[in-house]
Amino acid sequence: MSKNAAPNKEKRLSTEPYKGVRDFYPEDQSFLNYFFETCRRFVERVGYVEYHASVLEPSELYKAKGAENEEIIKDQTYTFIDRGGREVTLRPEMTPSVARMVAARRRDLGFPLRLYSMPNVFRYERPQRGRLREHWQLNVDCFGSRALAADAEIIGVAYGLMGAFGATERDFVIKIGDRAHFNDLVQKHSLSPEQSKKLFYILDRRAKAPEAEFKEGLMGLGIAQAELSPKEEPRDVAKIVEDFRNAGINNIIYAPEVVRGFNYYTGIVFEVFDAHPDNNRSLFGGGRYDNLTELFDDEPLPGVGFGMGDVTVRDFLAVRNMLPEYRPPTHLYIAVTSAELAPDAQSLAGELRRQGVNAAIDFGEKKLGDQIKAAGKHKIPWLLVFGQDEIATGRFSVRDMETGAEESLSRDELGAFFLNL
Ligand code: HAM
Repeated sequence: MSKNAAPNKEKRLSTEPYKGVRDFYPEDQSFLNYFFETCRRFVERVGYVEYHASVLEPSELYKAKGAENEEIIKDQTYTFIDRGGREVTLRPEMTPSVARMVAARRRDLGFPLRLYSMPNVFRYERPQRGRLREHWQLNVDCFGSRALAADAEIIGVAYGLMGAFGATERDFVIKIGDRAHFNDLVQKHSLSPEQSKKLFYILDRRAKAPEAEFKEGLMGLGIAQAELSPKEEPRDVAKIVEDFRNAGINNIIYAPEVVRGFNYYTGIVFEVFDAHPDNNRSLFGGGRYDNLTELFDDEPLPGVGFGMGDVTVRDFLAVRNMLPEYRPPTHLYIAVTSAELAPDAQSLAGELRRQGVNAAIDFGEKKLGDQIKAAGKHKIPWLLVFGQDEIATGRFSVRDMETGAEESLSRDELGAFFLNL
């Protein structure tokens, strides 16, 4: 190397992912898969079927009348101009997309229509615990029914999902509020659409922003704090709470302060809260929105649903040591005593794979001890050492990597051994 061709002195790139998003190493991806599978299994049992859409949407989908006042639309979207001059947004939530899809095919679809999806969504937020710039969100929505039973079903699905993740009733509370009261308040004070958006914005921000900001906001709208709580529990909410109580479920309660941030909600809204003192926060939520499809045509189509993010669920499980233990899909690691034996080891691996065993093989470049250490780092549960002795005797010892116990087996016995574990 000549003196001038010095090693690259340019600044090296950071290995950090983009701010507020995550890399999913195998253990993280494994949790995400567990999240997806648990959600999928539970919601499909209640009759929900899966849909999907592109992460790219025309920005106008989120700029519907009045929506520009919303925190999410105003400050939190990733929006860019494509090469054809169109304004494009990475979806910050799934609800407008699914409303669009349902409106497009409303003549062909059967109602009530039960749909679920598990998209990644993007929000330009200040990253903090439980809040990132990209997360995965289970969306469960029921379209085409105004029945209270549909609201109750959705809340029941939220409740049941918590159980599917291993939660008991003491671990969480579902707080139900009612948008109708606030919609009445809007009428009573003759608030303009902009002012009403402002009201929901400050109500939703209440827990996150300084109290002074909240009071000032209310005053600006001419609303007294006492007007925020309805005199009595709304009838719809009372009925839902009572029905759950009669079914022996006591952690679903009325909470007038729950309003949620999106403008599109029209009826009951709810929020699932973690009851753990170290993670005292909202886990997920949703509600009824009866007018969202009006963005696309004149016919309103009622909907009710919720969104549940992977980040908050993971935190919920982590504070309780309830995260599932990581297990790689690989059953067996085959270490080789020398690189020349790799082709023979490869043919053994082939035999086992054909029988259904997931087997990874070492290339034999490192010492046996280092190969075994690597298998340990991968958390592969079983190890087989492939060497001259094994070839000569036709017997292989397989080691349980956790206990260190070994078992000696003939080549023919190996496949059955792993499949019967
Ligand atoms: P959302 O409350 O904005 O509602 O989001 C739903 C859930 O997604 C949150 O409760 C939380 O679990 C998770 N989530 C939201 N933002 C973040 C973030 N920045 N980082 C991590 N997790 C987050 C909606 O999106 C509505 N579209 C839900 C819905 C569906 N309503 C009716 N149908």
